[in-house]
Amino acid sequence: MRIDVFTLVPHAYAWLTEQVPVANVLGTELELRLFNYRETTPLRAGQVDDEPYGGGAGMVLRVDVVAAALDRTYGGSAPGPVIALTPKGRPLTQAVVEEFTAQPSLTLLSARFEGFDERIVEQLATDAVSVGPYVLSNGDLPAMLVLDAVARRLPGALAAGSGEIESFSAELGGGLEYPHYTRPSEFRGWSVPEVLLSGDHARIEAWRRDHVVEIEA
Ligand SMILES: C[S@@+](CC[C@H](N)C(=O)[O-])C[C@H]1O[C@@H](n2cnc3c(N)ncnc32)[C@H](O)[C@@H]1O
Repeated sequence: MRIDVFTLVPHAYAWLTEQVPVANVLGTELELRLFNYRETTPLRAGQVDDEPYGGGAGMVLRVDVVAAALDRTYGGSAPGPVIALTPKGRPLTQAVVEEFTAQPSLTLLSARFEGFDERIVEQLATDAVSVGPYVLSNGDLPAMLVLDAVARRLPGALAAGSGEIESFSAELGGGLEYPHYTRPSEFRGWSVPEVLLSGDHARIEAWRRDHVVEIEA
């Protein structure tokens, strides 16, 4: 799949592209393109945001700037969902991640300061997503969350068997994964559950199923 991110800080994504799972799928299952609004802005001196109509603090990302960036890139409508990252969007859940992973392409729009001119969300974007009920300083951490969550669902992102049984997965009925332990088996009097040391795979499987935490719908 292809993910296009529109941002003011494309260089900030360098770290993410070096990390597993994104690094494992870049150039094969995932094509990542980073676009800087400043490079296509129709305004002088790289301007991208402006004062809010009606007054008040902060700067707002301009609709003509985002429209120019999308037009230059797609020359029409984008091939897949155009997702504005905003606290006012629908919550990002694993179900939303699966929905995005099934798309051939995604476009992520990041803003900063006071956020988007509302016409970007209403007219240019086709979807709006929030990464949680709190306010971050820009949309780049949210865009990276989407990128990471989607990348780990792509073929080859994770070692075989690592990605199927995880919290929120269908295999666990959407619940939270059972606890994991590793060596030492005893530390400061804290013991690993005996069943996990037994070598009895049927008992281990049963214990794990019993320790999945169901989530209220
Ligand atoms: C400081 S925030 C703007 C907050 C906005 N004035 C409000 O009160 O809803 C700047 C940008 O960060 C991003 N952002 C902040 N929190 C977010 C969240 N919880 N989910 C997704 N994006 C977020 C959005 O792109 C937003 O436009």
